[in-house]
Amino acid sequence: MSDQSRDTIESLSHEDRTFPPPAEFAARAQIQEAEYRRLLALAETDYERFWAEQAQAELQWIQPFTRTLNDREAPHYQWFEDGLLNVSVNCIDRHLPDRANKPAIIFEGEPGDTRRLTYAELLHEVVRFANALRGRGIKKGDRVVLYMPMVPEAVIAMQACARIGAIHSVVFGGFSGDSLRDRINDAEASAVVTADGGFRSGRVIELKAVCDRIIGDCPSVHTVFVLKRAGNPVTWSPARDIWWHEAVAGAGADCPPVAVGAEHPLFLLYTSGSTGRPKGIQHSSAGYLLGTILTMRWVFDIRPDDVFWCTADVGWITGHSYVAYGPLAAGATLLMYEGAPMVPDPGRYWQICERHKVSVFYTAPTAIRALKKQGDDYPARYDLSSLRLLGSVGEPINPEAWMWYHTHIGHGRCPIVDTWWQTETGAHMIAPIPGVSTLKPGSCGRALPGIMADIVDNKGDPVGAANTGGFLVIKRPWPFMLRTVWRNPQRYIDTYWKEFDGRYYVSGDGAKRDADGYFWIMGRVDDVLKVSGHRLGTMEIESALVAHSRVAEAAVVGRPDELTGEAICAFVVVRGTRPSGPDAEALTQDLRQWVSEHIGPIAKPAVIRYTDNLPKTRSGKIMRRLLRAVAAGEPITQDVSTLENPDIIRQLQGD
Ligand code: PRX
Repeated sequence: MSDQSRDTIESLSHEDRTFPPPAEFAARAQIQEAEYRRLLALAETDYERFWAEQAQAELQWIQPFTRTLNDREAPHYQWFEDGLLNVSVNCIDRHLPDRANKPAIIFEGEPGDTRRLTYAELLHEVVRFANALRGRGIKKGDRVVLYMPMVPEAVIAMQACARIGAIHSVVFGGFSGDSLRDRINDAEASAVVTADGGFRSGRVIELKAVCDRIIGDCPSVHTVFVLKRAGNPVTWSPARDIWWHEAVAGAGADCPPVAVGAEHPLFLLYTSGSTGRPKGIQHSSAGYLLGTILTMRWVFDIRPDDVFWCTADVGWITGHSYVAYGPLAAGATLLMYEGAPMVPDPGRYWQICERHKVSVFYTAPTAIRALKKQGDDYPARYDLSSLRLLGSVGEPINPEAWMWYHTHIGHGRCPIVDTWWQTETGAHMIAPIPGVSTLKPGSCGRALPGIMADIVDNKGDPVGAANTGGFLVIKRPWPFMLRTVWRNPQRYIDTYWKEFDGRYYVSGDGAKRDADGYFWIMGRVDDVLKVSGHRLGTMEIESALVAHSRVAEAAVVGRPDELTGEAICAFVVVRGTRPSGPDAEALTQDLRQWVSEHIGPIAKPAVIRYTDNLPKTRSGKIMRRLLRAVAAGEPITQDVSTLENPDIIRQLQGD
C-alpha cells in the first residue's frame, strides 16, 4: 500500500438527503423487507447453509455438489467443488422451450442498425460458434482471447467458450496492440476472436489491423476468427485467419454442453494493480454465475418483462457480469449498444431507452456527469416512462450527479442502485435492495446478505465507530470471489491477503460507514487510478513513459477531475536538458501518443509536467503524496523534511 494509505482516512463529505423506496416500487419488488431480513439472518447464523441454499435454488446442476466451502488451502477457497454444471446451459438452454421466442438480446449499432435474437436463436448461434471453436481444435481449458466491438457476437463467443469449457479472456477493444499482445501471451491463448472493425464515436475502430501488428509475437495463437462488422478492408493470413461466417457456415447445429467442475475457470480478465503488469483475475464457473444471478434479482429486481441495459463494454467486469452472463442467466432481455453516448448527439442513450423501452438502466458516474453537462434538454426530448430502476457503478457518484440522474432520468420515480464491487469480487457486494433500502445520494448502502464487509484501521482492527474512515475489507470468503491470479498464486496472496495476515480480503478502497450502517466509498488507497471509471495502475503508465527514448524517469498520479473522476498527471524527467516552449509541447504530444500506443487511449496523461528531479525521500522513494498535492494545485501541507531535494517543489509547482 502507498504512503497515503497509512494515514488516517478523513472524510469530509456530508450528505443527509434520503429517499425511501417509492410505495409502488416496493409493493411489486421481488425482495421485500421480510425476505431481506430472512436472508441476512440466515447468512449470519449459518453462512455455509445460506450459500448452499442459494446455489441449489439458482443454478442448474448436472451433478449436485455435496461440499459447500473448502477452506483447507485458504485463501485459495473452493465453493461447491464436487458439483458439475455448464454455464451456457444455465444462461440459455434452461429458458427453453418456455422462453424460446423471448428476445434475449436487442442490439443497436452505432450507425443505427438493430437486431434481435430470441433465446432460441441465441442458442443456435452459440452452438454453431462453439462447434467452430471445436473445429479448430479448441477444447476444455484452452484460452481464447476476445478483442471485439460491442456486438452480439461478443456475447455469443463468450457463451460458446463456456459451452465447451474453454476459458475466455476479453481484452477491451480500446486497448492497444501492446496490451493485447501481453494479455494473449500471459494467458497463452490458442485462438483470438476479433472483428474487421467496430463503430465508435463516428469512426471505425480497426481491430483486426491491431491484431495483425502483434500476432507474430504471440506464438501460442494458431487461429484468429474474424467477424465482419464494419466492412473495412483487412489483410489476411489464410493459414491462421478465418471469417466468423465461414467458420459457422459449416458448423453443426448441435453441441452437447461440456460438464465442468464448479471451480473450473470460466474466464480470466486482466486488470491493473498498484504494482507490476496487469494481472489475470481468474473466476470460477458456479460461484461466479451464482453471484451474477443473485444480484440480478436482489439489486436489479429483474422481472420477466424487463429490458435491461448495462452500458459497460464486455471488456470490463461489468460487461461480463451484467451483459454476457447475469441478464441471460436471469432469463431477461438484454439491450446491447455498440457505440458512444454522444453519437450523433448527447441524446443517444435516452433515445435508445425510448425506442427499446428500457426498464432497468445501469451506467457509470462518468457518463452521467458528461451527459448532465450537456443540459437537461436532451433527456427531456424523450419518453423515459419505461424506466423503473437506475444503477451506477465504477466510481463514487457525487450527490449532484445522483440528484440529476434521479430527477432528469428517473423523474423521481426510479430508485438508484449505487453498486460497489470490483473485477475481483465478480458481482455486487455493497448495494441497495431497491424495494427495501432507503437511498442516500453518494452512498452504496449496506453489504448484501452473505457479504461480510467491514472497515478496519491500519492494524486490521475494526474501526467500530460510525463515520470513521479506514480500509474496506471482506471478512469471509464468498462464492463469486476471484480464485487466483492466473498462473501467479503468490501474487494473489500478496495483493489481496497479505496486508492483514490473511484475515481479510483487502479491497484496496478506503471507506467509512455511517450510523445506519451505510458505506461511503472514499476511493482507492493504493496506486490505482480510476479514470472515467476505468482502472489503471500508475506503474503501468510510468513503465510506458520510461520506455520512450527521451524519458529518464516518470511518476504518475491522479488529480481530481470534474468529469472523469480522476485525470492522469505525469511528472517527467527527460534525458538531457529539461524541455520548454515548443520543444516541450511537441514532446508532450509525442508522449501522449506513445502512451496511447503502448496501453490505449484511455491511459493518455491529461497533463505532463517536466522537472529536473522527482521529489524523493532520502531512501529514494518517490513522494507520491506530494505529487498528488501538486497535481491538484493544493498547498503543500505534508512534512517535506525528509525530502532529498526540497528545492524541487517550486519547480514542480510550475514556478
Ligand atoms: O474503487 C472502487 C471503484 O472501482 C474499483 C473497482 O474497479 P474495477 O475492478 O474496474 O471494477 C469496476 C466495476 C465493478 C473499486 O475498488 N468502484 C466500483 N464501484 C464503485 C466504486 N467506487 C465507489 N462506488 C461504487 N459504486
